[in-house]
Amino acid sequence: MSRDEIRKMESMVVQACHYIDAVTGGISTPIQPSTTFARDREYQPIGDYSYSRSENPTYAVLEQVCAQLDGGAQARCFASGMAAITAVFETVNSGEHIVAPRIMYHGAQDWLRRISEKRAIGLSLFDASDPEDLQRAVQPGKTTLVWIETPVNPTWEIIDIAAAAAIAHQAGAMLAVDSTVAPPVTTRALDHGADIVFHSATKYYNGHSDVVAGILVTRELDQRWQEIKLVRQLAGAVLGPFEAWLLLRGMRTLFLRFERASTSALKIAQHFENHSGLEKVLYPGLQSHPGHQIAKRQMINGFGGMLSFMLKGDASKGRQLASRTNLFLPATSLGGVESLIEHRATVEGPHSVVPENLVRLSVGIENCDDLIADLEQALNQL
Ligand SMILES: Cc1ncc(COP(=O)(O)O)c(C=O)c1O
Repeated sequence: MSRDEIRKMESMVVQACHYIDAVTGGISTPIQPSTTFARDREYQPIGDYSYSRSENPTYAVLEQVCAQLDGGAQARCFASGMAAITAVFETVNSGEHIVAPRIMYHGAQDWLRRISEKRAIGLSLFDASDPEDLQRAVQPGKTTLVWIETPVNPTWEIIDIAAAAAIAHQAGAMLAVDSTVAPPVTTRALDHGADIVFHSATKYYNGHSDVVAGILVTRELDQRWQEIKLVRQLAGAVLGPFEAWLLLRGMRTLFLRFERASTSALKIAQHFENHSGLEKVLYPGLQSHPGHQIAKRQMINGFGGMLSFMLKGDASKGRQLASRTNLFLPATSLGGVESLIEHRATVEGPHSVVPENLVRLSVGIENCDDLIADLEQALNQL
């Protein structure tokens, strides 16, 4: 997808989140709270809906916008990002094999370890910083799912989606991409060969830290997609009409928020790249980042608002920095209008493989100079 096509998506998302009500002319999508839908005198459904654990008119508007944004055949929204992720994992059978990055969103990896132990599903973790390692990890004929995340949270390595898709497909597996940190404002994973793209809509899609939600978009209406929809329906992991409406409201400003966060994050990364208190700044927008060339090709409209600082000195400094800022709020999560700072190893707990000296920043839409001054004063206190 070119930059020009992205610009068209920007207008589409603003317009599509509107909905002109045929009766009143109202321009906000109506919230349809009904759990059930009546039939007529011939006992035929009056509309397209039967029961809201399956489908609902308010989710349907959201799902259409999400499918269009990612250029997919269909989308489904879920009660959380994890509910969407586990619906994909649920399609893997005992005896099959999954490949995923060694460092990735820890909740998804915890779930992979759990199903691998309980259901005799093979699991291989690969090093996202080594492009050859994915090829070594797949087992042709046995691997049925390659799950990747790019940029990789919280070290922000870049995985080449097209290369990963070629490796997965050659082995007979599907490729699913967690693109939470790179929404379709900048990356359309399906265009690069992925079969399914996932977003924790709790993050950039909603953008206001007040809705927990997940989105899956598929390239094809294949057997696996039918199974995913069945899992949502039977496990009941639906979002709820009010949350779907809140997401539609948040998504109207998705492009504005993401572009602002990307511009500020790049400035912050460049400002602190050679800071004496830091060992390294991890951000794919920096020319020094090992994945910068792939990121330039894959993230065509900004490198996003996520970066990490690796601190010099003893490990406790990471925790100290995360509690010395005034504007950056010391809380977990990402992609909201407010900037957040967190000591990732503490948040992930004792099993974390994230270095102790790493502090993760989610850059919001505040004034960038104020954000830089806030980090300066916090670093000066260490
Ligand atoms: C990259 C990534 N993927 C998935 C998730 C899970 O999403 P949720 O918290 O909406 O269940 C998160 C949550 O932090 C995340 O950061």
